[in-house]
Amino acid sequence: MPATMRAIVLDAPGPPTALSIRELPIPTPAPGWVLIQVKAFGLNRSELHTRLGLAEGVTFPRVLGIEATGVVTACPGGEFPIGQQVVAMMGGMGRTFDGGYAEYTCVPATQVIAFASNLDWATLGALPEMLQTSYGSLTVGLDAQPGQSILIRGGTSSVGMATAVLAKQRHMTVFATTRNSAKAAALTNIGVNHVLIDDGDVARQVHAIVPEGVDTALELVGTPTLPDTLRATRLHGVVCFTGMLSNQWIVHEFYPVDYIPRGVRLTAYGGDATDLPPQVLQAFIDAVAAGTAVVPIDHVYPFDQIVAAHTAMEAGTASGKLVVTT
Ligand SMILES: NC(=O)c1ccc[n+]([C@@H]2O[C@H](COP(=O)([O-])OP(=O)(O)OC[C@H]3O[C@@H](n4cnc5c(N)ncnc54)[C@H](OP(=O)(O)O)[C@@H]3O)[C@@H](O)[C@H]2O)c1
Repeated sequence: MPATMRAIVLDAPGPPTALSIRELPIPTPAPGWVLIQVKAFGLNRSELHTRLGLAEGVTFPRVLGIEATGVVTACPGGEFPIGQQVVAMMGGMGRTFDGGYAEYTCVPATQVIAFASNLDWATLGALPEMLQTSYGSLTVGLDAQPGQSILIRGGTSSVGMATAVLAKQRHMTVFATTRNSAKAAALTNIGVNHVLIDDGDVARQVHAIVPEGVDTALELVGTPTLPDTLRATRLHGVVCFTGMLSNQWIVHEFYPVDYIPRGVRLTAYGGDATDLPPQVLQAFIDAVAAGTAVVPIDHVYPFDQIVAAHTAMEAGTASGKLVVTT
């Protein structure tokens, strides 16, 4: 094994060009940690927040990346065999210790999930954080049941599209929003039943289709749209606040009786690798291989195009996941 690796380092918050590719020593795992040869990694808004200086608790210089997909190359505690295909995510990756934007990453074994697949690495690299967030939002956040309806506010985001795919697997009726009518086909192609163009009054559009409102709703745009999402939801329906694409997540002067419609339930989701059971990851990968589920990928970049990839993420022009291969 070589002694050094290429890694993408952020010395301090800044524009996309603040991400620089450097040669760093390959980390040595302590017992309980796993060294992964990274094959691909997905980009996440969390890393955009870090680069913009909006993230709390991040120290610099830092190799970014809250997720990675690859192969185990060292595991002193014996939790995983050498050569095992794995994903890793969260738990401080790319925030309090160096993360997945590198040829190797060293992470706690508790953040690692094994799988087996012949799919290409770019497809597999799109999955960990996207699937964990979608699955966690549907289960922990919404307790979504087969046959229910779901409104996905921020439907063209990678989390939004993955949630639509999982919801369709559960035979749910999916409503999904975009601000850009040119992206409607990307949503119908993955099975979305009702594409809604977000004009700020999505509740009106929902009630025109289901007068009582949707059973469940996933808020990914943030607090500017949350009151309207709550209004789109039926009595005893559930709204889960998972994302804040608008970069706004605080409700000022929160007066519950005014803010939350009568009988609508507001919850939230944030989680980590333990929310994604290994069998759920494997079943999703197998469904993709069988052609019964799709991975919503917008674009795959080579490692040395990280500046272009971050520029695209910041511009918000994608429909689905941005992935980088090593
Ligand atoms: N709670 C958790 O555990 C967790 C974990 C992961 C991610 N998240 C959050 O989930 C959200 C989605 O993440 P992602 O990585 O899937 O996003 P993404 O793929 O980067 O989303 C891109 C899409 O977001 C929409 N968008 C961008 N800015 C917007 C704005 N100001 N208002 C409304 N829509 C906007 C655009 O859609 P249109 O142009 O089509 O409207 C764009 O295509 C983020 O807020 C992220 O922080 C939460």
